[in-house]
Amino acid sequence: MHIEVFGDQKRASQRIVDLLTRQLRAYPYSVLGLATGATVIPIYREIIERIRREQLNLAPVRTFNLDEYMGLQDHDPHSFHAFMQRHLFYPAHLTPDQTFFPFPEFSQDPSGYDRLIEQHGGIDWQLLGIGHNGHIGFNEPGTAFDSETHVVKLTENTRKANRHWFDGDWHHVPEQALTMGLKTIMRSRTIVLAAFGASKSAVLAKAVYGLVCPELPASILQHHPRVYIICDQEAGSLLRPSSSFHSPDFPSQFDV
Ligand code: F6R
Repeated sequence: MHIEVFGDQKRASQRIVDLLTRQLRAYPYSVLGLATGATVIPIYREIIERIRREQLNLAPVRTFNLDEYMGLQDHDPHSFHAFMQRHLFYPAHLTPDQTFFPFPEFSQDPSGYDRLIEQHGGIDWQLLGIGHNGHIGFNEPGTAFDSETHVVKLTENTRKANRHWFDGDWHHVPEQALTMGLKTIMRSRTIVLAAFGASKSAVLAKAVYGLVCPELPASILQHHPRVYIICDQEAGSLLRPSSSFHSPDFPSQFDV
């Protein structure tokens, strides 16, 4: 795992978009795996900024989102479709024929989403956030490492963590979602995991240094050959070497 700790979210987001830019310079027709949530908002903002400055072009890419709540219509403002439309697809001029989600199309045949990804050549560059319980996508603790796209029952903790997207009431957060599995994610050629804020520091340290086990789904990433962990100083505060955090202008970089 290659780890880079930045002074703040903005610098970390810039670095992630630098990595994306490098990917797209080498392979303009890349297949991107995308996430939703608070972590990716500054990253998508940076992507839009670079598109406006004509430093980045997403026109040739195809995108596959990690997950979607079950039962929400595409146009429901709480759906991940709507999140992506608002934060990335609309401002980046990405159209529905190049952007894919597991729900609703694959609710009866979840593995069809894996097949569709493979038909497009597989995911070249996967962006991930991490949940406080170590989930990636909606792969909650206990998910099998060999899982492909599947239906999940969301834990109460995850529904509570996501309640701010649902007017603060966790009972409004759907009980189920369709998510890429851990094996689906691990098939990506490059994985970039972003983590921001002090609340992610403990789980990030466990994912990087802890036992690789289904109880901490993100720990599987230790077995992937090409993972970048890009975080801010707060999320990275329990990652070694901590002595190099003195300057917000220079990232601390190391491999584990
Ligand atoms: C969302 C997703 C989740 C989030 C994770 C972190 O598509 O796959 O795994 O990345 O829950 O969410 P935030 O960024 O809101 O802390």
